[in-house]
Amino acid sequence: MPTRDQILSALRSVIDPELRRDIVELEMVRAVEIHENGVVDVTVSLTTAGCPIRNHFQTAVAGAVRELEGVSAVNVSFDVLSDAEKAALGSKLGRKSLPEGALAQVSNIICVGSGKGGVGKSSVTTNLAAALVAEGKQVGVLDADVWGYSQPRMLGVPHQRPRVNAERKIIPLPAYDGITVMSIGFFVEEEAAVVWRGPMLHKALQQFLEDVEWGELDYLLVDLPPGTGDVSMTLAQLLPQAKFVIVTTPQPVAQKVARRSAEMASKLKLEIAGVIENMSGFVAPDGERYQLFGEGGGQLLAEELEVPLLGKVPLTIALREQSDAGVPVVFSDPDDPAAQALRYAARGLIALSPVELPVMQMAAPAAAPQPTGMSLPMA
Ligand SMILES: Nc1ncnc2c1ncn2[C@@H]1O[C@H](COP(=O)(O)OP(=O)(O)OP(=O)(O)O)[C@@H](O)[C@H]1O
Ligand SMILES: [Mg+2]
Repeated sequence: MPTRDQILSALRSVIDPELRRDIVELEMVRAVEIHENGVVDVTVSLTTAGCPIRNHFQTAVAGAVRELEGVSAVNVSFDVLSDAEKAALGSKLGRKSLPEGALAQVSNIICVGSGKGGVGKSSVTTNLAAALVAEGKQVGVLDADVWGYSQPRMLGVPHQRPRVNAERKIIPLPAYDGITVMSIGFFVEEEAAVVWRGPMLHKALQQFLEDVEWGELDYLLVDLPPGTGDVSMTLAQLLPQAKFVIVTTPQPVAQKVARRSAEMASKLKLEIAGVIENMSGFVAPDGERYQLFGEGGGQLLAEELEVPLLGKVPLTIALREQSDAGVPVVFSDPDDPAAQALRYAARGLIALSPVELPVMQMAAPAAAPQPTGMSLPMA
């Protein structure tokens, strides 16, 4: 059976992503109880009840303790630091108050990635954003592809230097009603991006994440660059509360590459929310479906990772045409089979999110998505 000290030393690997120190040092481990049968109960104190990184702690604490010999199961529970404890923590950190963090009002962060380029990460991101809006959610889209950003174009937002407010925060650009977008590419000179590596890249991304004022969001979708390179790794470290959605195509080769992203996610202790299979057959305008890239890759990968297959998105002409035109197909052609598959995937994602406790106010009914500041091109 592990001792209390062994458990505490294992818990030193659990880092509070906002405070950037481990939870033992931060004195956030309220209680550790070791039972005869190898079950360990850990209570972690959070700074706020609705802490968006609660899931991160849940996974990381359970993962760290489960590694110890003799542990059969881990129960993680939470309570909240008292005001006095928060103040003590604040002075310990040498700050008057705890950092609010630009992402404090973001409920869910979803990174859309894959091991390979060109599988449709960006198209899936754009349309998932639209589909989440159609479900009444407020969504931000962060294009993290330093070298080849596509979200502004796919969301119909022209390249521009974003506005900075009085607090020197960067304001994301409005795309469609309910969607705001920001691209790292807006700030990067093309030549500069090429030499960004390692610590320099880390610093730049960190500053960028801290400086963008997203405001209140239900979902922040992050369109990752292809592969498991520096940007993906760094973002994963900077956003430990994020979940991964892996996009793959139906053929086995793509699946092998997608698995690499999954391995990266698990190494960084990021939770994988699910798999989306894209280019899952071609649906011709007459409705006939052709399995251009084989079948079943998404399902296999999902089974292997023990996560849900959130959707199978076919290739359709409408999706391609409309992403080129800057209009998510989910808005412009809701009957398109790809649009429907993406709506289905978005509902799956919502179903996976932790349910928030009801507050004493009625949610406003979801408004139909309307483009702001631009008009829909005729299809
Ligand atoms: N389901 C689909 N139906 C039709 N066209 C699609 C579909 N998915 C992606 N495409 C098209 O395939 C191309 C590549 O898609 P996209 O840019 O989304 O891929 P990506 O994985 O983000 O690429 P990269 O690795 O370069 O970032 C685009 O032209 C896009 O319009
Ligand atoms: Mg892309």
